[in-house]
Amino acid sequence: MMRYAHITGWGMAVPERVMTNHDIAQLVDTDDQWIRERTGIEQRRIAGPDETTGTLATRAALRALEVANLRPAEIDLIVVATSSPEHLFPATASIVQDRIGATDCGAFDLLAACTGFIYATNMAAQAIRAGSINNALVIGAETLSRLVNWKDRGTCILFGDGAGAFVLQGSDEPGGVLSSLLRSDGSGADLLTIPAGGSHIPASLHTVGNGLHYIQMNGREVFRFATRVMAKATAQVAEEAGLEISDLDLIIPHQANRRIIEAAARGLKLPLERFAINLNRYGNTSTASIPIAACEAIEAGQLHKDNKIVIVGFGAGLTWGAMAIHWTGPFPAKRKIYPRRYRTVARLRSAWRRSLRRVEGVIYGSKTIK
Ligand code: UT7
Repeated sequence: MMRYAHITGWGMAVPERVMTNHDIAQLVDTDDQWIRERTGIEQRRIAGPDETTGTLATRAALRALEVANLRPAEIDLIVVATSSPEHLFPATASIVQDRIGATDCGAFDLLAACTGFIYATNMAAQAIRAGSINNALVIGAETLSRLVNWKDRGTCILFGDGAGAFVLQGSDEPGGVLSSLLRSDGSGADLLTIPAGGSHIPASLHTVGNGLHYIQMNGREVFRFATRVMAKATAQVAEEAGLEISDLDLIIPHQANRRIIEAAARGLKLPLERFAINLNRYGNTSTASIPIAACEAIEAGQLHKDNKIVIVGFGAGLTWGAMAIHWTGPFPAKRKIYPRRYRTVARLRSAWRRSLRRVEGVIYGSKTIK
């Protein structure tokens, strides 16, 4: 029997703190008009001291589970796509798994920069369609404000913090993910990068002194690449799904620059109204931009059950990707689930496991990491 991967839940979380273009003009030599005209961005959200990629991811995940009406323990797989993970390891996905109390699942992070959410959704859908799992939680989450060089006006004006999540579930009913395309061109690896802090150039006084642990970008080159791939990738997945471009109810593009979205609209000969655009309020939230835009499109009545849509994006790598989706929504439920209620149990369970490990350490001997 054919299995299909439906998107049955969605959620988003953004920090409360708003940073306007005027605020940024206090930090670097720029102005509101330049940023609006060249990017379309008016403001972005910035994480507070207690917020991390993991806390935003957890909030978005719980909302998505609420919509899907799914208990955390029913999740088989958590994939967090992020360009700003909490650590090189462990994976942010494991931190989220523990916080939401998903007691019976695998968890890993996926790095494909801003295209990561499309990659992650595709991997989860493939696992569902192969029959190896039934319920997956896919999250795009970022606190890029911590990795941006606040002295570089070419990049700090662009990025914002936030998280978005989808729940994917298997069913024999046709629908959900229809087709997808994932691409990479590593010859452009140097165009958008955080050069240091990994194993190639480990962190040192030199790397910190020279700002090599911050985002560096050749904006013009990335812009040119993006305008080349967005329309083409959209057309390719639509064709593979048996859809005409004019059949598409909505396109949810990665929210990087309004001019890139306008170029895609021209390339596809579609009116701009057919695109979900909210980058004016959030800037570029990398992996989180597509699920956040999806949540807001649903809220705004722009995305409905039975719509045929394409999500499409690009980013560092270089990477790009697209996916055609038959939007179906939550499966019918017999009773209401409250995923948030499991959070206290999750916290107690986590504390219990930690203390058990401590007791075992006393018995068998262990070293403490400082
Ligand atoms: O998720 C993927 C992330 N990356 C992207 O999506 C980036 C794609 N690229 C872009 O969005 C655009 O290239 C930028 C918005 C980054 C830059 O816009 P642009 O129209 O490509 O500007 P530019 O880099 O060609 O610079 C034009 C001028 C330069 O001055 P000169 O050399 O012509 O005198 C820059 O120094 O604008 C100057 N400039 C600024 N001026 C005021 C660059 N940044 C700023 C700024 N404020 N923030």
